[in-house]
Amino acid sequence: MRKPEPTVELISTGRFLPDCVVTNDDLAKRVDTSDEWIRTRTGIRERRVAPDDMTAAFMGAEAAKVAMQRAGVEPGEVDIVILSTATPDRWLPSTACDAQALLGCTNAFAFDVMAACTGFLYALTVAEGYLMAGRAEVVLVIASEKMSSITNWEDRTTCVLFGDGAGATVLRKANGAGRGILSSVMRSDGNLADLLNRPGGGAAEPMSQAILESGRHLIQMQGREIFKHAVRSMAEACDIALKRAGLTVDDVDLLVPHQANIRIIEATAKYAGLPLDKVFVNVDRYGNMSSASVPVGLDEAQEQGLIGPGSNILTVAFGAGLTWGAMALRW
Ligand SMILES: CC(C)(COP(=O)(O)OP(=O)(O)OC[C@H]1O[C@@H](n2cnc3c(N)ncnc32)[C@H](O)[C@@H]1OP(=O)(O)O)[C@@H](O)C(=O)NCCC(=O)NCCS
Repeated sequence: MRKPEPTVELISTGRFLPDCVVTNDDLAKRVDTSDEWIRTRTGIRERRVAPDDMTAAFMGAEAAKVAMQRAGVEPGEVDIVILSTATPDRWLPSTACDAQALLGCTNAFAFDVMAACTGFLYALTVAEGYLMAGRAEVVLVIASEKMSSITNWEDRTTCVLFGDGAGATVLRKANGAGRGILSSVMRSDGNLADLLNRPGGGAAEPMSQAILESGRHLIQMQGREIFKHAVRSMAEACDIALKRAGLTVDDVDLLVPHQANIRIIEATAKYAGLPLDKVFVNVDRYGNMSSASVPVGLDEAQEQGLIGPGSNILTVAFGAGLTWGAMALRW
């Protein structure tokens, strides 16, 4: 099979993590849990939690500033700001518009993408479409998540899993040097929406005192079911993305998966046929940062020298929707 040429290039990456570290022992003071339970079931040791007055737009803009500075891109050069978040700062306007204002990208248009933990990969494909259609030259893709703001801190089955943070990347059309997006596969199944959701507080169940008291505006999840779907879907998406890129697992230098749970990551790698030394992990330090997990992972993997020019990278994610997807990249 003829190998596809990369479409668009991820010129640079950046990340932002709030300073405040919350350990498993800290959580054990709030709910009936233990460091041992959380570590063995999820691989998480600690997570970052943003202060109340730190917005998702701010975290995203900070990550974007790093990516833009590394790419040598001025705010006025950005044509589109696409921001993935499951935790918009407010219902109107989009968090992307707030991030645009913070960044001074005055020549851009900005909008949010909502696909939960898969949102960064969805946003990359949206950016790819604009760039390939010749509608933009520089696109900023940001993923910013303040999961602590939608976490039920009294529910031990969910509050131990999530963390706050942001990642960003600057994209341009590939210039023929072989770097960029090689293939992608994006999927969703809305029939499974109730497995992971926030039922109250939207248009279907407008916010009320009763919803506030019941906690229906916060994350609810059927963990076991999610686990099964996550592994199967991500392994399948990895296979398809590799086939579309004309690659085999042996060609992959690093898998950068969504960081939900170390057992999901290990099982996905096993089904996909990848040894664990080719799998990037930071879930131990940050927990599940929803769509920010993959860009933060890419940024750290590069900083740690795990990927460099010419590396073949497979990224894969899974989340509420249910949504899932995978992408093969040449760095
Ligand atoms: C959440 C998850 C770690 C739970 O692990 P599990 O092995 O499935 O555990 P269960 O939900 O079956 O619960 C087992 C027991 O542990 C208890 N438990 C749940 N959370 C606990 C906690 N934080 N501390 C201590 N005990 C806990 C349960 O109440 C249950 O007790 P019971 O047997 O007395 O009823 C696991 O299902 C998971 O990771 N699912 C995927 C979730 C996810 O990643 N979602 C985001 C996708 S993007």
